[in-house]
Amino acid sequence: MIICNNDSFVINTKSTTYMMYVDKYKHLRHLYYGSPIPHDAVGLEWIEGPDDIFIGDGTYYREDAESCFLANQLLEYSSPGKGDTRESAIIAEYDDGQITFDFVYIDHELLRDGQGRDCLTIRLKDTIKPVFLSLTYKVCEEYDVITRSAKIENQMDEELTVRTFSSLMFDLPDADWQLVTLDGAWARECTTHRRKLEPGIITIDSKLGSSSCEHNPAMALVRVETDAFHGDAIGFNLIWSGNHQDRIEVSPFSKLRFLSSVNSFGFAWKLAKGEGFQSPEAVMTYSDRGLNKLSENMQRFVRNCVAYAPFAKEDRPILINSWEAVYFDISHEKIMSLAKTAAALGFELFVLDDGWFGRRTDDTRGLGDWDENFDRLPKGLKGLADEIHALGLKFGIWLEPEMVNEDSALFEQHPGWRMSIPGRTPSVGRHEYFLDLTRKEVSDYVYQSICKVLGNGVDYVKWDMNRNMSDYYCAGCDTSQLFVKYIQSLYSIIDRVREAFPGVLFEFCSSGGNRFDLGMVGRMDQGWASDNTDALSRVGIQQSLYQFYPTSVISCHVSDSPNHQTLRRSWLEDRFAVACFGVLGYELDLEALSEEERAVIARQVAFYKEHRRTFQHGLFRLLPSRSDNIRFWSIEGDDEIIVLETQVLNEVNTGTHDRLIIPFADEAATYSLKRRVPMLPADGIRPIAKDYSVLAKEEEEEIIVSGKILKTCGIALPAKFMGRGVRPGIRVMGDFGTDMYVVRKID
Ligand code: GLA
Repeated sequence: MIICNNDSFVINTKSTTYMMYVDKYKHLRHLYYGSPIPHDAVGLEWIEGPDDIFIGDGTYYREDAESCFLANQLLEYSSPGKGDTRESAIIAEYDDGQITFDFVYIDHELLRDGQGRDCLTIRLKDTIKPVFLSLTYKVCEEYDVITRSAKIENQMDEELTVRTFSSLMFDLPDADWQLVTLDGAWARECTTHRRKLEPGIITIDSKLGSSSCEHNPAMALVRVETDAFHGDAIGFNLIWSGNHQDRIEVSPFSKLRFLSSVNSFGFAWKLAKGEGFQSPEAVMTYSDRGLNKLSENMQRFVRNCVAYAPFAKEDRPILINSWEAVYFDISHEKIMSLAKTAAALGFELFVLDDGWFGRRTDDTRGLGDWDENFDRLPKGLKGLADEIHALGLKFGIWLEPEMVNEDSALFEQHPGWRMSIPGRTPSVGRHEYFLDLTRKEVSDYVYQSICKVLGNGVDYVKWDMNRNMSDYYCAGCDTSQLFVKYIQSLYSIIDRVREAFPGVLFEFCSSGGNRFDLGMVGRMDQGWASDNTDALSRVGIQQSLYQFYPTSVISCHVSDSPNHQTLRRSWLEDRFAVACFGVLGYELDLEALSEEERAVIARQVAFYKEHRRTFQHGLFRLLPSRSDNIRFWSIEGDDEIIVLETQVLNEVNTGTHDRLIIPFADEAATYSLKRRVPMLPADGIRPIAKDYSVLAKEEEEEIIVSGKILKTCGIALPAKFMGRGVRPGIRVMGDFGTDMYVVRKID
């Protein structure tokens, strides 16, 4: 709910309050964000305290405004030139190069948006020039989320060039916070980093042309003492798939400023009279119960307000993907044979990955030519799709529609469609080049070629994008708008394709998680988090993502052992257990496995189907753990909680019992915990300690315990192998091992 009272604005969600007000100089000032405070609480003015006094070299707003020291005030949206020398939310140039603005309140409007959310727009105007700034706040009360966006409009006769424009600016009264970010690179996306903030400016950004695997746009501010269960945490994300820029500044007066923007790198947006620029939406949430609550808010918000609505609540099919099974070695027979095996094991979707089209026999050629290669697929895509459908499977296809190889018919016909600078040899990534999507004829070609492919009975698309931008140049607009216009054009192609093929599911991918962001989540149904499918690596990557994204949008595959990225060996059941916490798929040659392993997979697929709603639509939370070597994950569905214990290394003699505590258990209830007993074929390569032929038990083991115990002291799980004595009943987890429990209320 939003309360507008004279000159103050109070935004209340279920468990948070956000306050701002217009001061006597008509500046929009930030007052408070945190646990609920009544809008009429006595002494609100004391949150900020008395006006500043004149200090040494400070720049004051006006001669008659000695108390208005903008550099030390909490503001909603700052601009340069009037004394606030911190990072600005907007930097824009008039014709003569001036950059000073002084935005003051003119009016506001309170509306309901299409989703029934309260929506406040506060309008500001420069004191002397007809330049207007609108700040919009939308409230998702249920999920404790506020979204923010900004729009600038030029009504001057002269041109205005916008160089920096933030979606969100957020000032905090103290700087005693730490910054949590998700950083990485190809195949090691999303490592969570947590750093102390010191005076100065930190920029977390992307210049790759995508939101990037280097720095995800999702991040958080946390107190020193904040952990998964306790303490303040403020989360942010930007609904944008292009270059982002997040700036965090600790001012000389120990105040903190957070700014989330489209990157100002290579960005200059010229506005003629009557034109405007609208920022993407940014997201913020507050939790007073640590990172789990922050994650809960974000998961619920993304699921209900961002995720592509038609499929957001639908179950996603269990897929088999051809990539790590056969790579480029594609033939109709091979694909059909793999599909038959998959169908027999209970799979629901076959995804034909790279290598099915044009000259594409390896990654140096073919991109851009979206016609099937009849040497490889003599019955064509349609013929293949029909046979796969006849097996009871849906049919999916890989596309990388934004790219072109030099060795392709498309490039031969339209060399000028490639993004490159006239007269300069373009740099290359994975032998491929961007198509200049800012040109209408190019985006139309991309749209039409996708439609042609989908017309062959395709039920699912994996939309890939495998390089970073270089040689910044475009023919469809001013190149200083390229990074934004490219993404806008991409969004419009996706929107058009989805409208034309409403029944098709889409998965975004960019060399793994190079474009894992809310812009894509809003347009596609699920996303490939990383090309790294090693179970241990995935524990880290997925756990980082769960802080900001729900499992329904995170695809996770069981792949081969040794793993193709890390060469690490792990057990099939452990790979499965980690991949369960998201949208499950497999990406390995099912036919190269033993009969026993295939039986294990059939049992896994059946188990996942039984618990699919929990895994895909449940609420992820971390549970307490006694050491960094062990993690406990949980996912809570409508009628069950599934708990996963993961262990990095099998330590010897460090204590045989791990403790399971479920802090959100219902203390009035009694629970049954059933361990999912892994089924491991004796294939000779596994260490003896994991040879379950010794322990073989098909049925699940059950523990009955009160919610009060689970919630408070927790229970000691059955003894774990600690260096001696493999015997029935002992849990043998081994290196990179897992153990899963299904927890249900029984009364
Ligand atoms: C990228 C994707 C992979 C696979 C290959 C195919 O690397 O991330 O999953 O689709 O392309 O070339």
